[in-house]
Amino acid sequence: MLDAEQILVLGHRGLLGQALVAACQGRCQVVAGGRQVFDLTRQPLTAALVAGQAVGPEQARASLGRVAAGLPALGAKAQDLHGCLDVLRLALKEGRPRLVFNCLGYTDVDQAEREPQAAEAVNGRGAQAVARACAEAGAHLVHLSTDFVFDGQASRPYREDDPPAPLSTYGRSKLSGERLVRQELAGALIVRSAWLFGQGRPSFVDKVIAQGRLGKPFPVVEDQVGSPTYTADLAAALLDLGQRWIGGVLHLVNQGQASRRQLAIKALELAGLDPSLAQAAQSSQAAGGARRPAYSVLDAGRAARVLGGPLPPWPEALGRYLAARREVQA
Ligand SMILES: NC(=O)c1ccc[n+]([C@@H]2O[C@H](COP(=O)([O-])OP(=O)(O)OC[C@H]3O[C@@H](n4cnc5c(N)ncnc54)[C@H](OP(=O)(O)O)[C@@H]3O)[C@@H](O)[C@H]2O)c1
Repeated sequence: MLDAEQILVLGHRGLLGQALVAACQGRCQVVAGGRQVFDLTRQPLTAALVAGQAVGPEQARASLGRVAAGLPALGAKAQDLHGCLDVLRLALKEGRPRLVFNCLGYTDVDQAEREPQAAEAVNGRGAQAVARACAEAGAHLVHLSTDFVFDGQASRPYREDDPPAPLSTYGRSKLSGERLVRQELAGALIVRSAWLFGQGRPSFVDKVIAQGRLGKPFPVVEDQVGSPTYTADLAAALLDLGQRWIGGVLHLVNQGQASRRQLAIKALELAGLDPSLAQAAQSSQAAGGARRPAYSVLDAGRAARVLGGPLPPWPEALGRYLAARREVQA
């Protein structure tokens, strides 16, 4: 078992990153900043001009500091693969983590269609930079990927070795990231998960509940079926998997499957709202946006064998999430 201080979480303010930091009981290292100080999509020159200062290791070093909680933190203006590498190299050199979780991601699936370069910069080259820095530092990497690498034409849950064929820019950029990570660090563990909900950032479930509270019917697609997953369950399992030092690709999701509408109905029921407000709609009716797989259920059997059992069923996990959410709001 690693000391939590030997674990580095990248993207600690994101939906999953927050759950991972909580699973490490807040004692892991975090790379502070996110987009404001560590924007993977911007060129160094532009950033330097905007910031009115030089970009590079010295500036990154100067911005190293301690956050209030006493955790090592890093903030830097490092925008391309090389700038990003400088920052990550420093983070790894200063922190000497043995295990790195990469929860950084360009995750706005619809916006990615309008910003393919930004999606690739974060999900492709950003992932490559992380993997290269880990390879150089001898750290083990757990990198997050997605069910959206599949085209949704399967008639059974997707296994790790099923051929990917993404439908969207987001899916393509994530697949590019998987390939670049493997190229830089053959021993990295790539974990594909899906349809996340959890504390910290609003997801589909929170939006459904907000709509439900308005008391008016609203459309929810029923021709997209996937694997809803609670970030707390995912984070605990990731922490366990990460410390087993295994590489390759694993699918990791809560048990069971649901359409978007089934998930919405269950969320409304559990929140004490009227489930009939979630009206059946078809993807073809949704205006614009990225194409999403019709069926992207992930087979997590391989992860269950490694972990000694599957993650809990999603409806039970959703109940726990909503109970925790009520506690916070009370
Ligand atoms: N959410 C899902 O349903 C889902 C499903 C399957 C797989 N995944 C994968 O799981 C991982 C974590 O997802 P998530 O839902 O936790 O994502 P998220 O909430 O959107 O968080 C993403 C993180 O990446 C950072 N980031 C985004 N753009 C950046 C940029 N240009 N430069 C630097 N940092 C940037 C964000 O920083 P800020 O603090 O600045 O926002 C944030 O810390 C991703 O790899 C995602 O592809 C997610």
